[in-house]
Amino acid sequence: MLVTRRIDGKARAARLVAEITAATAALQAAPGFVPGLAAVLVGDNPASRSYVGSKGKAATAAGIQGFQHRLPEATSEAALLALIEELNADDRVDGILVQLPLPRHIDPQRVIDVVDPAKDVDGFHPHNVGLLWSGGRARALIPCTPYGCLLLLEETLPELSGLEAVVLGRSNIVGKPMAALLLAENCTVTLAHSRSRDLPALVRRADVLVAAVGQPELVRGGWIKPDAVVIDVGFNRVPGPDGTSKAVGDVAFAEAQGIAAAITPVPGGVGPMTIACLLRNTVIAACRRRGRADPQNLS
Ligand code: GUN
Repeated sequence: MLVTRRIDGKARAARLVAEITAATAALQAAPGFVPGLAAVLVGDNPASRSYVGSKGKAATAAGIQGFQHRLPEATSEAALLALIEELNADDRVDGILVQLPLPRHIDPQRVIDVVDPAKDVDGFHPHNVGLLWSGGRARALIPCTPYGCLLLLEETLPELSGLEAVVLGRSNIVGKPMAALLLAENCTVTLAHSRSRDLPALVRRADVLVAAVGQPELVRGGWIKPDAVVIDVGFNRVPGPDGTSKAVGDVAFAEAQGIAAAITPVPGGVGPMTIACLLRNTVIAACRRRGRADPQNLS
């Protein structure tokens, strides 16, 4: 029987972080600048708090100056927009990240639209979205999670060109930019979502499957094409033994064994890549804002 490979996102992310750390050290030594990343958190969603904390720690460890802005849940949209304008004008800040989701009284698109596209390390601003879809991938800042997925695919498969890729989930954060990246790699891309008919049949076509729907173990083993490569973006908390909780992905990991050629685990797959790619985008933004070439060797 086929032995399914476990794609080690932790190890791949550690390699990328090492490259970023070397790049920031070189930038500090030569032209003497420190890239800066501002993270903005509104409210106290525990998951968001933990993500923003991890991003700040990882930035500091990689030689990036972190600026954290924690605002109360009741912050008005106008006050948040004013803070972003301040960060746009602050020369120490190369990257701005506004953690999503925002409280319901704030329109996330309005917020994304005011971030300076040159500091948009999430790659969510329409300017960067347009560059990505129109083939300007080299100039765009690319959303972190899908870029991390692409790096994992590139280390798993020798060639993506011509493969059937199915992306489950059409979010602006993952599904849509993932589809754009795979299309740019010459995959035949199907972007499936909650209204798609016969998901199992769509998924069965996939040489490459990226699942990003946020539904615990939606994708069953029997849906997976033998020898497919599976990237599981899902991170869902479900009840574990003895009243604890555990994280599972959007794919039934145990059922995929012996069917998929390779699959990312949850945790330890895509998650670490997202943070590493955020640091990568920050260093790239810092260089571009100063008219310097992108650092060499930064995948
Ligand atoms: N919420 C979930 N994923 C992300 C992300 O990649 N960036 C931001 N800003 N918020 C998120």
